[in-house]
Amino acid sequence: MGNEVEIGKVSVHFFSISSTNEFANSLLAKSEPIAGTVISADYQTSGKGQYDKSWQSAPKMNLLLSVVLFPDFLRAQYNFLLNIMAAQSVIDLIEKLSPEPRCQIKWPNDILVKGKKIAGILIKNNIQGNAIKSSVCGFGINVNQQTFDCDSMGVKPTSLYLTLKKEFELPALFSSFIYSLNENYRLLKEDRNTLLAKANGYLFGSKEFVVIKNIRTGQSMEVKVMELDAHGKVRVFWNNQFRWIDICNWKIAMG
Ligand code: BTN
Repeated sequence: MGNEVEIGKVSVHFFSISSTNEFANSLLAKSEPIAGTVISADYQTSGKGQYDKSWQSAPKMNLLLSVVLFPDFLRAQYNFLLNIMAAQSVIDLIEKLSPEPRCQIKWPNDILVKGKKIAGILIKNNIQGNAIKSSVCGFGINVNQQTFDCDSMGVKPTSLYLTLKKEFELPALFSSFIYSLNENYRLLKEDRNTLLAKANGYLFGSKEFVVIKNIRTGQSMEVKVMELDAHGKVRVFWNNQFRWIDICNWKIAMG
C-alpha cells in the first residue's frame, strides 16, 4: 500500500472501555492519531448507537471497533459514501464466511440478515466547509452472542452464530474485517462508482415494498428502494413513478 492509509496498521485493544467511538473522538481532540488507527474492545460500558441509543453487547462475544480516518480525497457533499464503504465492508466480511443468506443494507447503515440486524454502524464526521477533516467509523458486529435484549435496538437483533449456527474466533474475524475495510476504503478512493454499484446490489426494500416514514412530517409511503446515490439521495418507486428522496428525511419503518 506504500504511503496509502492502512487501516489497522496501528491498533489498540481494550478489555473494557466506555465506548470505542468516544475514545477515538477524544484521541482526535487531544492528539494526531495515524490515519487508519483502530480502537477495539471486548466490552463497552457505555456503547453508543444511532439516534442517541445505547449499543449493548455481551463481553467477548462480538466485534466492537472504531476506525479513525482522514478522507481528504472526499468532498463533504459525498460524506454518505463513508457509510457505503462501512456497510459494504461488513457485507464483504459476512459473505466471505458464507454467501447465504444475503445481507441487506437498511439505510443509512444497518446491516440486516433475513430482516434482523446483524451489525450497526455509527459514523461521526468532522466537516469543515467543503472538507471532511476526520471521520470516526464505529462498528458493532454481532458474532457469537445468542440472546439479546430486544428493546435495546429498534430492529430485532441477530448474530453470525444465530444465522450460521457456528461459533467464530474473534481475532480471525477481526483480521478479515480489517482486510475488507482496506479493500473498500481503497475503492472509495479510487473507484467510488464501483463501490456504490456494489452496495446498491444489497438494498433492503429493493425486492419487496417497504414503508418509509418522513421524520419531520410523519408522512408514510410504501415504496420499493431502487438505488442510493453518492449524495445520500434514494430513488424510490412509489405510486407507479420514480422519485428521489433525501435519506436524512426518511426512515424505513420496521414491522
Ligand atoms: C447502531 O445504532 O446501529 C450503531 C451501533 C454502533 C455500535 C458500535 S460498537 C463500537 C462503536 N463504539 C460505540 O460506542 N458504538 C460503535
